[in-house]
Amino acid sequence: MARIAVVGGTGHLGKAIARRLAKAGHTVAIGSRSAENAAATATELGGLDFGANADVAKDKDFVIVTVPWSAQTATLTQIRDHVGNAVVVDTTVPLVPPKVMRVQLPEAGSAAMAARELLGPDVRLVSGFHNVAAHVLDTDALVDCDVLVFGDEVEARNGVVSLVADMGMRGLSGGALANSAAAEALTSVLIYMNKTYAADGAGIRFTGLTKAPPIS
Ligand SMILES: NC(=O)c1ccc[n+]([C@@H]2O[C@H](COP(=O)([O-])OP(=O)(O)OC[C@H]3O[C@@H](n4cnc5c(N)ncnc54)[C@H](OP(=O)(O)O)[C@@H]3O)[C@@H](O)[C@H]2O)c1
Repeated sequence: MARIAVVGGTGHLGKAIARRLAKAGHTVAIGSRSAENAAATATELGGLDFGANADVAKDKDFVIVTVPWSAQTATLTQIRDHVGNAVVVDTTVPLVPPKVMRVQLPEAGSAAMAARELLGPDVRLVSGFHNVAAHVLDTDALVDCDVLVFGDEVEARNGVVSLVADMGMRGLSGGALANSAAAEALTSVLIYMNKTYAADGAGIRFTGLTKAPPIS
């Protein structure tokens, strides 16, 4: 079982990820800018560890970052000196309100590449979870979509694919970190789909992958 911090774990996506990972038996800590907020969420999730973002990032196997695009730089700056050899999983989608149904990728190419620029080449970095709706994840129901994971280090990427499986979903490697732009862009399409087709949590499912792991 892995030691996992969820930075920004008080929010919609972070809480849902933390809940599923803790249920799977991993040791999960909730991080926040406010230890008080972290404590409240950790208690709500059944007594998880908690603390300030920089503190929970220490001595972990995975540090999952779940904050809005506007907070990505500040949050990664807070944790970068503390993550050590952990795999940092960036979930940021570079949405720029109010036009969240339009793809607006940043100058770096994607939020993942912006994270790489900020964290430098030595931090083990993976991105993922861009296309799964938090409120769907935050249930015990079967989540009927694939979760794409990107990264330049195969072992780190596969580690996150495996965590996704522990959460009861099919995780798929989408290749290099540079490919994260495709999934990040797709989120705006999914938000558009939700509105246009009155859906509540549209997701993606790849077909033809007969040798991919089944959803559990
Ligand atoms: N929600 C979804 O369905 C979903 C799905 C896929 C991907 N994503 C992506 O996942 C990330 C998190 O989404 P979310 O919906 O969970 O976000 P959220 O609930 O709005 O925020 C998550 C946490 O980030 C921290 N935060 C908020 N504003 C901040 C700021 N200005 N500076 C520093 N920290 C701040 C807060 O934690 P503290 O106040 O406790 O520090 C907050 O609880 C986003 O990049 C989003 O695009 C979301």
